[in-house]
Amino acid sequence: MSCFLIEGRRRLEGSLRVQGAKNSALPILAAAAATGRPCLIHNCPVISDIQAAIGILRAIGCEVRTSGGDVYIDSSTINSSDIPDRLMREMRSSIIFLGALLTRTGEASFTAPGGCDIGLRPFDLHLLSLKKLGVAVEQRRGRIHCSCPGRVRPAQIALSFPSVGATENIILSSVRAAGTTTVINAAREPEIADLAGFLNACGARITGAGSGTVTIEGVERLRSAEYTVMPDRIAACTYMAAAAVTGGNLILEDVIPAHLSTVITSFEQAGCRIDHTRRRLRLLAPERPESMETIRTMPYPGFPTDCQPVLTAVACVCRGTTFIKENIFENRFRYIGELNRMGADIVVNGTAAAVRGVERLHSATVSATDLRAGAALVVAGLCAEGTTAVERIGYIDRGYESLEKKLASIGASIKRTDNYENFKSGTSGKTDSGKESQI
Ligand code: EPZ
Repeated sequence: MSCFLIEGRRRLEGSLRVQGAKNSALPILAAAAATGRPCLIHNCPVISDIQAAIGILRAIGCEVRTSGGDVYIDSSTINSSDIPDRLMREMRSSIIFLGALLTRTGEASFTAPGGCDIGLRPFDLHLLSLKKLGVAVEQRRGRIHCSCPGRVRPAQIALSFPSVGATENIILSSVRAAGTTTVINAAREPEIADLAGFLNACGARITGAGSGTVTIEGVERLRSAEYTVMPDRIAACTYMAAAAVTGGNLILEDVIPAHLSTVITSFEQAGCRIDHTRRRLRLLAPERPESMETIRTMPYPGFPTDCQPVLTAVACVCRGTTFIKENIFENRFRYIGELNRMGADIVVNGTAAAVRGVERLHSATVSATDLRAGAALVVAGLCAEGTTAVERIGYIDRGYESLEKKLASIGASIKRTDNYENFKSGTSGKTDSGKESQI
């Protein structure tokens, strides 16, 4: 099993380019399948979730070719609307193919999606919305069959919660509807606007994406398009957190600070100085961060839940106590025990955590419990005394492109290794660099 070995307490300094947004590229790849035409998508992050999405595209008959972050998809060859169970379970966003397949083939068959264990992650809002669009939904032997011969019926859909995935599936399902669909209380995350940007480039007529009310005027057909995915705001926040815990001086290129407003507020509360232009950001951290007082996760433009774990890692070494309230997912503190094994002082009560800052964390062997939790453990390892081993980094590889190489490029001592059993047993071992690793 691979792990990261991180020698902590190195100040991070330098600049790096932020990867394309995972949560934008995934629905855009699905949308390319809805077009029935060849499409070329640039700036897809090179991560395992993108590979999983490509696996689904190929399983339904699309021709897909990749070159680095460029993904070419020709969905004119689609020959199936059944998504294999093993692929559905690889990630949560596999459910986003539901709307794309309905638009492309008039049907979709799938099983419950997989994804991070951060909550139940139901998809009732997705199915309720499809039924409003006239889609027949049946559950047979553990599979869900959706069908809508002809074009879906336009509808006005008011979401009880601004679900990102449900908003995306409504857009994907109604983009060729026989009329105009309106989504009220739509998710306002920037990824929604990026998806609409791609679909409009394909000839769709979507307005209001990024606001709470999205209007989709159905069109007869979609055409080919070439599109560049926006930068990943969550990855950007992760690198900012790494600099914040090491007294660092970080420049992020190809980032959109406007997507990070509430996150920037928290880093400024921690004493970081942040300057930015439209696509560039600089963070200068203090020797030791100050308490961020309270962080409440909310739907966008509120504080993003995906940034909660890495900001909790920053809170571990702040002067004072930071209160974290997780309002989006019911089980997003599973990683706290791992941070406490590194000397953090965190008390969790349901979806609330009190993080009493300590002067210094110490190294340990810790295990990622999900994608963003894994990133939080890396951030903690960067400021811990000694060498920390972060296990189950396959979670991290789902969403971060070459995390260890990017961190090493700004001064971190972080190695990916398989042979760390000796390290775990406390005897001297060798990391990939052949360096002695002592616990
Ligand atoms: C997307 O998940 C992201 N994933 C998540 O990022 C992100 O945390 C989340 O949006 C919120 O911003 C992708 O885009 C691939 P939701 P999604 O539907 O669409 C409840 C990461 O680390 N809900 O907005 O699944 C749900 O249980 C991942 O990159 C229902 O109750 O999020 C949750 O409590 C983690 N019924 C809340 O809404 C539904 O039908 C938010 O879920 C759908 C959702």
